[in-house]
Amino acid sequence: MSETPQPADLIVFGGTGDLSMRKLLPALYHSDRAGLLAPSTRVIAMSRGGLDDADFRGKVDAEVRGSVPVDDPGTWQRFLGRLHHVSVDIGGQDPTGWARLTGLLAGYEHRARVFYLASPPMTFGPFCREAHRAGLVTPASRVVLEKPLGRDLTSALRINDEVGAIFDERQVYRIDHYLGKETVQNLLVLRFANAFLEPIWNSLWIDHVQITVAETVGTPGRRGYYDHAGALRDMVQNHLLQLLCLVAMEPPSRNDRESIRDEKVKVLQSLRAVTGGEVDRFTVRGQYTAGESGGARVPGYLDEPDRTAPTEASRRVETFAAIRAEVKNWRWAGVPFYLRTGKRMPYRCSEIVVQFKDVPHSIFPGSTPNRLVLRLQPSEGIQLNIMAKEPGAGEVTLKPVPLSLSFAETFTGRVPDAYERLLMDVLAGNPTLFMRRDEVEAAWRWIDPIISEWESRGTAPEPYPAGSAGPASAHELVGRSGRTWHGEGLA
Ligand SMILES: NC(=O)c1ccc[n+]([C@@H]2O[C@H](COP(=O)([O-])OP(=O)(O)OC[C@H]3O[C@@H](n4cnc5c(N)ncnc54)[C@H](OP(=O)(O)O)[C@@H]3O)[C@@H](O)[C@H]2O)c1
Repeated sequence: MSETPQPADLIVFGGTGDLSMRKLLPALYHSDRAGLLAPSTRVIAMSRGGLDDADFRGKVDAEVRGSVPVDDPGTWQRFLGRLHHVSVDIGGQDPTGWARLTGLLAGYEHRARVFYLASPPMTFGPFCREAHRAGLVTPASRVVLEKPLGRDLTSALRINDEVGAIFDERQVYRIDHYLGKETVQNLLVLRFANAFLEPIWNSLWIDHVQITVAETVGTPGRRGYYDHAGALRDMVQNHLLQLLCLVAMEPPSRNDRESIRDEKVKVLQSLRAVTGGEVDRFTVRGQYTAGESGGARVPGYLDEPDRTAPTEASRRVETFAAIRAEVKNWRWAGVPFYLRTGKRMPYRCSEIVVQFKDVPHSIFPGSTPNRLVLRLQPSEGIQLNIMAKEPGAGEVTLKPVPLSLSFAETFTGRVPDAYERLLMDVLAGNPTLFMRRDEVEAAWRWIDPIISEWESRGTAPEPYPAGSAGPASAHELVGRSGRTWHGEGLA
């Protein structure tokens, strides 16, 4: 990132939505407060909302101010002053909004111009076409695509083609905010800036890897979206597979935009396809029923309050998914990668667990294998469990003790949110932490057969009570080989 921030125009299509209000605008405010935005950088929100600049600033003042630290009212006012709003209906016939946007951007063609599409994926293609028709796509433009990028390979190809017809691939930033998390970037540093791990980062020393993203929340009011998404599309295709890539990738030759992504895509292409009857052995899908969560009684997925009644799609959608994946290459032969994610789990936790093999010959009773835990949330940190002797005379008693790196305790100052890092990378023109077209397509290519096999069954997912660690089959998935899931309450 350059020392002096360069002026830019950030056009947030969907700028009044939940993602913008909860993540993007707070992230931009934090960056502004840290002096990372040039004085003349502007944020132009777009929606159908019929707001003018003053309305939008009032909305942000009312909805965002409470969630960020405003220690200096001057900084907050400066931030509000950067904000504009343009009303546009994609697919609508009224050109007024585009004309206003054109007016706002006229004379600023030399600056970085970022179109951030925080809107449903079916608007991506139409937005790009309309921005192009209005003459707004300059050589210095970039477009950021939010997830989900389609709902299968076919739709992802279509979106990529539509966007690719207007923007060159080097201008396209497909966001997966997990890649902006400190622990995730630290995984790369841990692996490639320390010599001691590389010799043991393979099937000779590693027994298996677990990647868990557990959420306590359910889906109240989101049936319309979730019935057609499900845990596999919503979480595994993007976040969990990206984490798997970073664990499994070969050391890149350079820390640049293509080298890391080249290595990640090779991992996706090396995933052993799970097809046909194998789906029963290698995957588990579940749906939560009523139970106890956060000390309260909560309804099951089908009884969540919503504007619409549950349909057949609701009955079949999974709120939990677990997969045993295998990376078919020399380094990882025989090492299972267990992926799981679920809603209404006992607690919120995103972590990568690298389970090492036991010592070849143990002279102490009670020793357990080493384990490296990379925690992404709730509090980011890295922990290596090693065996140590409990102090005392007499018989040697072993105990696993953690060597811990807590970011909050080790590094004073706040840990920036993933969106802060990623937004600054887009403004600086650094796509390293964004997904390339071939990555997204390779991920869908692996996920698609699992989805079609699940859908062809026409059966309901396995029920699990809200507040539990998922369906019984998820425990069998790891238990079959004598392993258990990591995490108190999640095992
Ligand atoms: N919310 C999250 O935490 C989150 C996380 C990751 C990814 N995402 C993804 O980000 C996208 C946005 O999510 P969200 O939760 O912010 O959705 P949302 O709350 O429904 O907001 C959607 C935004 O898009 C605008 N919009 C929709 N259709 C439009 C059209 N035809 N013309 C102009 N504006 C239109 C909406 O404004 P008007 O309705 O006023 O026009 C609103 O500003 C989705 O693809 C979602 O999957 C969201």
